[in-house]
Amino acid sequence: MVARVNTVSFQGVDVQPVDVQVQISNGLPAFNIVGLPDKAVAESKERVRAALHALGLSLPPKRLTVNLAPADLSKEGSHYDLPIALGLLAAMEVISKEELAEYVVLGELALDSTITRVAGVLPAAMHAAAVGHRLICPKACGGEAVWAGDIEILAARDLLQLINHIKGTQVMAQPEALIEDQNPHKGPDLADVKGQESAKRALEVAAAGGHNLLMIGPPGSGKSMLASCMPGILPPLSPKEALEVSIIHSLAGTLPQGGLLRTRPFRDPHHSASLPALVGGGHKVKPGEISLAHNGVLFLDELPEFARGTLESMRQPLESGETLIARANQHVRYPANFQLVGAMNPCRCGYLGDPDQECTKAPRCGGDYQSKISGPMMDRIDLQVEVPAVSVADLNNDTRAEPSETVAVRIAKVRDIQLQRFAALGVSGQILTNAQANAKALDDIAVMEDEAKDLLNKAMDSAKLSARGYYRILRVARTIADMSAIKSGEVPEKIRKIDIAEALSYRRTTHK
Ligand SMILES: Nc1ncnc2c1ncn2[C@@H]1O[C@H](COP(=O)(O)OP(=O)(O)O)[C@@H](O)[C@H]1O
Ligand SMILES: [Mg+2]
Repeated sequence: MVARVNTVSFQGVDVQPVDVQVQISNGLPAFNIVGLPDKAVAESKERVRAALHALGLSLPPKRLTVNLAPADLSKEGSHYDLPIALGLLAAMEVISKEELAEYVVLGELALDSTITRVAGVLPAAMHAAAVGHRLICPKACGGEAVWAGDIEILAARDLLQLINHIKGTQVMAQPEALIEDQNPHKGPDLADVKGQESAKRALEVAAAGGHNLLMIGPPGSGKSMLASCMPGILPPLSPKEALEVSIIHSLAGTLPQGGLLRTRPFRDPHHSASLPALVGGGHKVKPGEISLAHNGVLFLDELPEFARGTLESMRQPLESGETLIARANQHVRYPANFQLVGAMNPCRCGYLGDPDQECTKAPRCGGDYQSKISGPMMDRIDLQVEVPAVSVADLNNDTRAEPSETVAVRIAKVRDIQLQRFAALGVSGQILTNAQANAKALDDIAVMEDEAKDLLNKAMDSAKLSARGYYRILRVARTIADMSAIKSGEVPEKIRKIDIAEALSYRRTTHK
């Protein structure tokens, strides 16, 4: 007699069904789990044994075999505890086998039979909904599972509650949908940043069109401060984006309250971050920072201090919007459509160009320091702005600058203009911001006036821009043109010379 329970295995953001088969047969007492379990899965038998013991049930002194099929797919994680326990209970005829067949089950067991939270409940619930099954998950994850749509969910606190529900003696209610406020904007407000008008303008352009931004300036000029204003001016996620982001965070186990994320992610890893931490992968395949920043911002402070290989590994995801991790026996894919914001000093001492403070190695040290960021990486950064030291006059100026809230309203309007344009083009499924527009879409949306074209052509020659640089300037110019519509009330159909000129001003072509 074999009892079967449906569960899942995660391959990147893809979910694969796994069949847990449990057999109790005669023979010397043994408890084996087969089907490429990793250490956490193999240890699950101790937790299952203890959890059943806590209910006053002991495993029969027979030969217990648990097979996780398909056998050639490696199984990682602790969410196999609950399906294995339910499979055993069915094989022991404590609960009915037929009833179990309608569920997808995942959860970890504590020794006292409490069901504890696991990663990946949201994608598992979406899989269950797609195949027409119901879901059994930990109580702590019920709030995220509900977002999978019209599906019946049993979010159980412990094994006893679950058994009682399945036997019909105590019925559990459907969990309530939760919204997670993971990034409530606690950072500084733009109104607190004194001076730095041109950097603020660049920040607004970057936020409005989703463009990559690099701020270069001496220490203490407010670069980190400006970057941390970013979450406060970005629009909230659309429902579709929220689901995509939440799936990744669910897989990474970073939904602490177990609800849907509505705020745009803002990730700021330290420069000691390793390559797997940044792009994903490693011993256990997990989404990296660039995927956790999907549909949001990845802020890399002190950019040249990041290990070279780590930075270069972001080049491909920056273009394709996803990361593909190849391992010996599997390829996993995570979305990574992020906006890169970087900050750096112009040189190691930080005062390059300031005759009073720069060190004796200037200007050579500046070249050395800045060349830590390779040409191809720089080529992918649309806006490169200088953030000079704040002047005393600016610091003493008591008039309050524009608050983040006002800027956020403008940015939301510019994003709306873009959404409508891409919807009209019929590409709103893939393109939401000007920064995401591909060359083909740009042909339609970024037609230039003749004067503008002349200026860009000249700049191409004199500044030796790459083809990528050309298109990136067009995208930024389109955003600048869209932003002008907030004041004039009319979106310029063609890109004007002033738009191109401003976009060009944000591109430093040579290292000093
Ligand atoms: N433009 C500014 N307006 C107001 N305060 C500033 C400004 N620039 C720097 N500061 C103050 O200096 C601190 C350090 O700034 P920070 O953004 O970390 O500098 P950077 O990253 O450029 O080295 C901030 O927390 C803030 O208190
Ligand atoms: Mg800083």
